[in-house]
Amino acid sequence: MCGIVAYIGKREAYPILIKGLKRLEYRGYDSAGVALLNGGLNIFKTKGKVSDLEALTEGKHLTSNLGMGHTRWATHGEPNNVNSHPHVSQNGNLAIIHNGIIENYATIKEELINRGHHFESETDTEVLIHLIEEIQKASNKELDEAVRIALHEVVGAYAIVIISKNDPEKLIGARKGSPMVVGIGEEGEYFIASDASPIIEYTKDVTYLKDSEIAYINKGKLTVKTIDNIEMTPEIQKLEMNLEAIEKGGYEHFMLKEIFEQPKSIGDSLRGRFDPVTGILAMRSLKEYEHKIKNLKRIIIVGCGTSWHAGLVGEYLFEDIARIPVEVEYASEFRYRNPIINEDDLVIAISQSGETADTLAAIELAKEKGATIFGLCNVVGSSIPRSSHAGAYTHAGPEIGVASTKAFTAQVSVLVLWALGFADIRGRLSKSELSKIMAELESIPAKVEKTLACESLTKELAKQFYQSRNFLYLGRGYGFPVALEGALKLKEISYIHAEGYPAAEMKHGPIALIDEEMPVVVIATKSANYEKVMSNIQEVKARKGKVIAIVTEGDTKVSAMADHVIEIPETSDYLEPLVATIPLQLLSYYIALERGCNVDQPRNLAKSVTVE
Ligand code: M6R
Repeated sequence: MCGIVAYIGKREAYPILIKGLKRLEYRGYDSAGVALLNGGLNIFKTKGKVSDLEALTEGKHLTSNLGMGHTRWATHGEPNNVNSHPHVSQNGNLAIIHNGIIENYATIKEELINRGHHFESETDTEVLIHLIEEIQKASNKELDEAVRIALHEVVGAYAIVIISKNDPEKLIGARKGSPMVVGIGEEGEYFIASDASPIIEYTKDVTYLKDSEIAYINKGKLTVKTIDNIEMTPEIQKLEMNLEAIEKGGYEHFMLKEIFEQPKSIGDSLRGRFDPVTGILAMRSLKEYEHKIKNLKRIIIVGCGTSWHAGLVGEYLFEDIARIPVEVEYASEFRYRNPIINEDDLVIAISQSGETADTLAAIELAKEKGATIFGLCNVVGSSIPRSSHAGAYTHAGPEIGVASTKAFTAQVSVLVLWALGFADIRGRLSKSELSKIMAELESIPAKVEKTLACESLTKELAKQFYQSRNFLYLGRGYGFPVALEGALKLKEISYIHAEGYPAAEMKHGPIALIDEEMPVVVIATKSANYEKVMSNIQEVKARKGKVIAIVTEGDTKVSAMADHVIEIPETSDYLEPLVATIPLQLLSYYIALERGCNVDQPRNLAKSVTVE
């Protein structure tokens, strides 16, 4: 959702904040703002992007060693100048930036209005800073204590930073349900941010705040306390991320860079997890939970968006290879529908960011009911891995483009490993079968590399189809989640309406949409469903739809029927999503470019959805 960054130390704060906000812009880009302490509290904020904020601050007095910045994804109140962060208290002494939602803000606001407070914005955030001011005033409390008391009164999720005109050596950060990392720099300097990207070039020493913790930075010293006032010892970690990983490296967009990184990111997600000599899968989750895996009755996979699509591939893999019943659930539905879960269940929570609010809530619910939780996440140290009993990181490296690409293929790669590991533990797979699939899996990075050569073809197709108003994506078996993912990629970055369907379901409704204007992307590789998919292509062609088929190299049958074909290397059905997704990512990227869309920052979206 929103991105926050703050600095206190001897350097100039403003350049650190602006650079940090640019890195955090993937989290929201409705408005941007900074607050700088230099004598007084100077606030600059505007609707629009960080570049608009830079334009606004040009020629202004920006010298300061203490400041904070915010990039917003609007929840309460439309994106405009007034609703932009930072927000200030009524007396103008305190300023706050916030990521999350204060759910009971309306009640608090009413009480504060009765006490004479006036509000400028429609945001929940402004209410919180007024509340802190009110507590300070009413009970004569120090700022630290007033913040702590106020946080006890709010319901919801937050990562906040507060600065005060009267405390030029103080920075306060707190979190609950929204991520926050504190960077420890040189000579008493500190950084606070939503993720490590704004901090990485200044320090590698960080501590991730836990839920309901407050970081008080005062006169060059960091103290971490819980909101119940218990002092904690911060766990200092070394950042492993490097600067290169969060820059575009010559690509026009992060999305394109991340698509092209997939041979490496898939390789990274597999590295060190299989020993070809012993035929053993070396994953801690498999070793530590062997007994559980042997006896479990059911797997429930939860996730949202692309991660949910990966979960669907997971369902096919676990049922096919390990013969374990699987249910795949949207985390947002699961958490509110009173599901039946018990101690024999394993819940796999999939999330690139590791911060998705609905997925986190689904985990909490499943934990309460006694299930074991495996997290499958990309962002190291994020909330979901910390809430899970065990799990695995995808090791895809930072994914900054809002449209998820390399995270999906990395998630699927790890799901293949788990499906093989589970099958092995449950005696469903011989060592030779396991080695055979692993050998094929290890050849996937090279096959993905080869598939990327279809870039120029997808560019041509984009030129031909970018004005289409609708797209259908069809697939069967392992091709079905791929179709869903292809449709999601297209709609989120190009704003073209697209539907993913199981190919055979088409005749139960969507077929009515097909005419000569309708491009239909079909996953028609030589899989178990090859012949069936060919019949579906015939059905589309009979209604004059334009077929773009993803086919196996050397295919002649589909090629004879389809209007356009994109060839991909042959692989086993299990691994098909890893390769077949690539042309669909490229196609949506180039269609969005043709339509002049902002690929890395599509409208209304944010990279990590930390509100429900
Ligand atoms: O961080 P997560 O994987 O939990 O995020 C889930 C979805 O918000 C995410 O996949 C979203 O659908 C992407 N924009 C898809 O490209």
